[in-house]
Amino acid sequence: MAGIRKTAPTIETERLRLRAFRASDLKALHALYTDGDNLRYWGVDRTGSLDETRRMMRWHVAYHPWQYVLWAVEDKKSKRLIGMINYHRRDRRERRVDVGWMIEPSRQGKGYMTEAGRALVRYLIDTLAVHKVEALIRPENKPSAALAKRLGFRLEGGPIRDRWWVGKQWHSVMLYGLIAGEEK
Ligand SMILES: CC(C)(COP(=O)(O)OP(=O)(O)OC[C@H]1O[C@@H](n2cnc3c(N)ncnc32)[C@H](O)[C@@H]1OP(=O)(O)O)[C@@H](O)C(=O)NCCC(=O)NCCS
Repeated sequence: MAGIRKTAPTIETERLRLRAFRASDLKALHALYTDGDNLRYWGVDRTGSLDETRRMMRWHVAYHPWQYVLWAVEDKKSKRLIGMINYHRRDRRERRVDVGWMIEPSRQGKGYMTEAGRALVRYLIDTLAVHKVEALIRPENKPSAALAKRLGFRLEGGPIRDRWWVGKQWHSVMLYGLIAGEEK
């Protein structure tokens, strides 16, 4: 049907392109999903094999804007995939979503995710009319909490007990929230 979007919209920032995932991202995605150290505070288990990443790839490529959307974060200069950003658990009635972000270690500490996160929050508020953006973050995950605060999120509560099941155990998380108008 004409006019109905089938992939995530592209969002451009100064250094980045947030774009739909495609099959050719498999290797780069696999590298992200097998870096145990970088994934230690992530809400989903690392993948064990390329086949497992390939299966994960299906929900990265899929476009379900009423529920979730995942974007590949591409460095415009090198055209390399360097991370990913998403919204999920969209609640239409309460105009609320959760967000998640990840960037490869060699690109951390350079403000890339601040740039991507700011663009995502803008898109959520301006285009999807989201009222509240939330981020669940493990208490130990200082870089993610710092990023959330840099974007205008406030610590609202926690620890929310046993919220994530990762690595065959339960993990508690802190709740950060941003209401439209509070973005920085
Ligand atoms: C969470 C995560 C995305 C944060 O990445 P990050 O690189 O620290 O975040 P940013 O891209 O916003 O970079 C901020 C850092 O870059 C620095 N920086 C450099 N140039 C900058 C710029 N132009 N703008 C903003 N910050 C800049 C900041 O000073 C800050 O450095 P600091 O950490 O020494 O204070 C990253 O740690 C990660 O991928 N972790 C693994 C996955 C994960 O845990 N995800 C979150 C699950 S809840």
